[in-house]
Amino acid sequence: MSITREQAHDILKKYMVGEAYLQHSYAVEAIMRGLAKRLAPNDVEFWGIVGLLHDLDEEHCDWKNHPEVHGPTSVEILKKEGVDDKVLHDAICAHNPKCGVKAKTPLQYAVLAADPMSGFVKAVAQIYPDKKIASVKHKSVMKRFNESRFAAGANRDYMESIEFTKLSLDDLIDVALEEMGAISDKLGL
Ligand SMILES: [Fe+2]
Repeated sequence: MSITREQAHDILKKYMVGEAYLQHSYAVEAIMRGLAKRLAPNDVEFWGIVGLLHDLDEEHCDWKNHPEVHGPTSVEILKKEGVDDKVLHDAICAHNPKCGVKAKTPLQYAVLAADPMSGFVKAVAQIYPDKKIASVKHKSVMKRFNESRFAAGANRDYMESIEFTKLSLDDLIDVALEEMGAISDKLGL
């Protein structure tokens, strides 16, 4: 079976307690919903669920030493919870190419790109005195994107993989600013 957003959120809360991880999950959910509005308008809820659950196993596997288990462990958790949705499982794995799954579909490219973009936008917000996403301009995100030492952990290639869909990196930045901005209180930004 697949799941509703409410069921997905219940599973997330059961397996994830770290506030920063939860905020990251909500940020990626928001970006995924924004991307779906442009790429798959009938699947906005489902794309959001992919974003919400993409890091489900974060506190349940040794991803630091074994990056290849990040993704497959989330699938195991979902199966244990009775969620047998291959499209969801494959998209979660595709967000981490180190587990051996290469993105192929717009949904998979979207989650691959949305994940680092959420952290990147947060890093840009933190430069500002008020640390608010409302202060961040598209132009500043692009400028920092081209500075390879800024937020070096945010994978530029993954963010640029949005261009394998109909959207551009500029579109992804606009979506991230708009959708993360709309839930800024929840994100502490
Ligand atoms: Fe993530």
